[in-house]
Amino acid sequence: MIKSRAAVAWGAGQPLTIEEVSVQPPKAGEVLVRIVASGVCHTDAFTLSGDDPEGIFPSILGHEGGGVVEEIGEGVTSVAVGDHVIPLYTPECGQCKFCLSGKTNLCQKIRTTQGQGLMPDGTTRFSLHGNEIFHYMGTSTFSEYTVLPEIALAKINKQAPLKEVCLLGCGVTTGMGAVVNAANVKPGDTVAIFGLGGIGLSVVIGAVMAGAQRIIAVDINADKFELATKLGATDCINPQEYGDPIQDVIVDLTDGGVDYSFECIGNVHTMRSALECCHKGWGESVIIGVAGAGQEISTRPFQLVTGRVWRGTAFGGVKGRSQLPGYVEDYLAGKFRLDDFITHTMGLKDINHAFELMHEGKSIRSVIHF
Ligand code: APR
Ligand code: ZN
Ligand code: ZN
Repeated sequence: MIKSRAAVAWGAGQPLTIEEVSVQPPKAGEVLVRIVASGVCHTDAFTLSGDDPEGIFPSILGHEGGGVVEEIGEGVTSVAVGDHVIPLYTPECGQCKFCLSGKTNLCQKIRTTQGQGLMPDGTTRFSLHGNEIFHYMGTSTFSEYTVLPEIALAKINKQAPLKEVCLLGCGVTTGMGAVVNAANVKPGDTVAIFGLGGIGLSVVIGAVMAGAQRIIAVDINADKFELATKLGATDCINPQEYGDPIQDVIVDLTDGGVDYSFECIGNVHTMRSALECCHKGWGESVIIGVAGAGQEISTRPFQLVTGRVWRGTAFGGVKGRSQLPGYVEDYLAGKFRLDDFITHTMGLKDINHAFELMHEGKSIRSVIHF
């Protein structure tokens, strides 16, 4: 048993409290990781709000981390003590039907126990005063020490600063990956991006890297336009400044619609707008934002009959163990920057402030330094 500082989520809507939890050593196939930094993402806030039907308390949230392997369990061969790793909430076992399909990154090997806040053997490694604390998304990066299955770790180049590349554990990869995996943006294409938070801005970067010619950034918060423009957006549009539906505005602006659109808000109404601003015959819309539990999308089927495509992706369609290390290499090669995303940094004790900043729309990403 080791002691670890961790932010514990006790229940819906309650602030996190910093505790010294006990962490059991890694069992067979598991790895103990010392977390160096963790971003705070909307999905953490969604679960903490109580709106997540899968939310389990008490638990240790956090899923956008970077850390160092501290100890390995029996039979672990793919990582060693001292390796730098990014925890994966979408693991990659390489053996399940999903991994073998070659068509998806949605490995299902440990899905059931992960959803229950447990390790694959059905137990938790965290406790406080003898009471169980549950895992979250299989990662629990708001703890100085956390235990993960080996298949849920991407081993990355040690040169990469963990305080930045932790963002590749969720938001930035989700956005950038969607551009190349879910869509297939080609040089010269026109794209529209709805929502300019960490996800939408990552799509902007991905679109620039893919050579998109026109990048239309859409947000109701005009404060987001400066950074979007800096990163490469060519047009910034605030739907509140138009009388017509925003899809009509975009169709007019683009001589019939965009080649690709991305919904990075999680709002079912903007999902419809994102589909309907696509060009007749070939435009494709990718849903990235996560809508509230039970919500439904709608459009007229004629939109699809006339050639538009609606699709979606999780974690950018990126296979964590085989592909994420390449994103880290691209970052090290200077192909994209991460510091633009990090608007705030703080110690673990101030983690509730990170949630406040997010709710107030003041941060792109807050990164917790342990
Ligand atoms: N129209 C346009 N923009 C909107 C609208 C709207 N109706 N509603 C919100 N926005 C903008 C916000 O102003 C904000 O800039 O969408 C952006 C969303 O950004 P963040 O809140 O920072 O969210 P982000 O971290 O990028 O995640 C976006 O992806 O992972 C999911 O759960 C997450 O669903 C969320 C989405
Ligand atoms: Zn996330
Ligand atoms: Zn698998």
